[in-house]
Amino acid sequence: MSSVLVSSMLFCIIAASYFRIGYGQTTFNVLDYDAAGDGQRDDSEAFLKAWKALCAANEGDKGTPRLIIPAKKKFLFQPIKLSGPCKSNSVHVEILGKVVAPKTPNAWKECVESWISFSSVTNLIISGAGEINGQGSRWWTRDSNLNHVRNGNKARCQRPKALGFSKCNNLQLSGLTLADSPKGHISIDSCHNGTVSYLHIRAPKDSPNTDGIDISKSSHLNIHDCNIGTGDDCIAINSGSSHINITNIACGPGHGISVGSLGKNGAYATAEEIHVRNCSFNGTLNGARIKTWQGASGYARKISFEQITLIETSNPIIIDQYYCNGRHDCKNLTSTLNVSDVTYNGFHGTSKNEKAITFDCATLGCVNIVMNQINITSAIPNKETQASCSNVNGTSRATAPQVPCLQIY
Ligand SMILES: *[C@@H]1O[C@H](CO)[C@@H](O)[C@H](O)[C@H]1NC(C)=O
Ligand SMILES: *[C@@H]1O[C@H](CO)[C@@H](O)[C@H](O)[C@H]1NC(C)=O
Ligand SMILES: *[C@@H]1O[C@H](CO)[C@@H](O)[C@H](O)[C@H]1NC(C)=O
Ligand SMILES: *[C@@H]1O[C@H](CO)[C@@H](O)[C@H](O)[C@H]1NC(C)=O
Ligand SMILES: *[C@@H]1O[C@H](CO)[C@@H](O)[C@H](O)[C@H]1NC(C)=O
Ligand SMILES: *[C@@H]1O[C@H](CO)[C@@H](O)[C@H](O)[C@H]1NC(C)=O
Ligand SMILES: *[C@@H]1O[C@H](CO)[C@@H](O)[C@H](O)[C@H]1NC(C)=O
Ligand SMILES: *[C@@H]1O[C@H](CO)[C@@H](O)[C@H](O)[C@H]1NC(C)=O
Repeated sequence: MSSVLVSSMLFCIIAASYFRIGYGQTTFNVLDYDAAGDGQRDDSEAFLKAWKALCAANEGDKGTPRLIIPAKKKFLFQPIKLSGPCKSNSVHVEILGKVVAPKTPNAWKECVESWISFSSVTNLIISGAGEINGQGSRWWTRDSNLNHVRNGNKARCQRPKALGFSKCNNLQLSGLTLADSPKGHISIDSCHNGTVSYLHIRAPKDSPNTDGIDISKSSHLNIHDCNIGTGDDCIAINSGSSHINITNIACGPGHGISVGSLGKNGAYATAEEIHVRNCSFNGTLNGARIKTWQGASGYARKISFEQITLIETSNPIIIDQYYCNGRHDCKNLTSTLNVSDVTYNGFHGTSKNEKAITFDCATLGCVNIVMNQINITSAIPNKETQASCSNVNGTSRATAPQVPCLQIY
């Protein structure tokens, strides 16, 4: 190559990068930060650099600064932490391509709680028709708690979740597909006033603990129009959560939509104003579930499940105040969370088990349980469905199967 050619090429590269990464810029493409996009090379450094540029950008004339992960490419990311606060009032991450985690647990460079985690970013918008794939299959089949060889040392990594949000107020997450996380797919912790919508979340029916969306210590969230089928809860609402609306969710396979588990290890736990509406449970283990541990304190109250379609759901309606996942010593203790003001309105469809409704409440009881327009038939022809209950009070109207503890009005 002639030196003239070399220097003019060099000039073009510098000019191009000045143009793309220049002052006042509002669009940041990971490819401009040397991402390979081949699914083989580690692109996390490029993503982090692009994030730093995005987070340092001013709100431009052209609007919200935007980071683009382009379509038709595959980006391999190691665990990555994206933290705010950012300079602009709002930042937008657009995911159009595919993002994958390292293929095997041994290829992960760090043990983390969430593979891709966002924290303290206000007005974060994440959208796009891209996919985030946790390549979890090797984590699911690993036995005896994941002995992990890293830098020649044996470390013990807990299975990570895929996408984590912490202290991200006014979050707007939409459009993406999430698949095959090693553990839960999305975790929303200490986030207030957000919307999660139009997501597809997929993992095999038998993949362990692959919750769709886990919510904790968060309030005023709107989760709507998602299609979630995994090996565990489609959505789980954990302690410290309130004012959570969940609407238009197609759930299945999976373990249903669950408030709890609440109060593990004797904790004080709360959940209130949780409203689930127009959701379907297709082939799920549970439908509308509330689960609390023995020995806890606090409350779960003002919870409603309305307009629910059941398709061969094993346990369509369940409150379990004796929740115990087997790994703990679950003696019957006297204290428990107060469960009150729970409404079930408009359930129809089929139950796989004969027992379609279970209210297994502890001595303190479940208070003011209200049921209306419930018609759950057996998935097995000519079988009747049943309900069981203990320590429950409240009312029912037009409810089949009939719940003995409730007053018919
Ligand atoms: C809630 O979030 C939306 C964006 O989703 C925003 O427009 C609105 O101002 C936020 N409300 C508060 C009280 O922060
Ligand atoms: C939840 O739905 C109720 C009733 O439709 C509405 O009043 C409330 O504002 C909604 N909350 C959120 C966080 O969207
Ligand atoms: C109910 O949810 C389904 C998705 O599961 C959606 O297609 C339908 O439009 C929703 N119905 C209403 C009335 O919002
Ligand atoms: C329920 O799930 C099964 C298996 O995935 C599927 O074939 C069927 O179409 C679903 N039913 C409805 C009503 O969505
Ligand atoms: C739970 O209910 C009991 C009995 O009704 C009451 O004494 C207690 O204060 C309640 N606890 C909470 C945290 O609401
Ligand atoms: C605790 O009490 C419940 C309800 O009475 C009962 O079904 C369960 O077997 C008891 N568990 C233990 C460990 O005693
Ligand atoms: C309950 O649903 C079954 C099956 O769809 C139907 O045959 C029956 O008429 C319904 N009962 C009531 C009271 O609506
Ligand atoms: C249920 O129990 C609570 C607390 O003991 C009581 O205040 C309420 O009136 C009862 N409701 C019914 C329908 O019996």
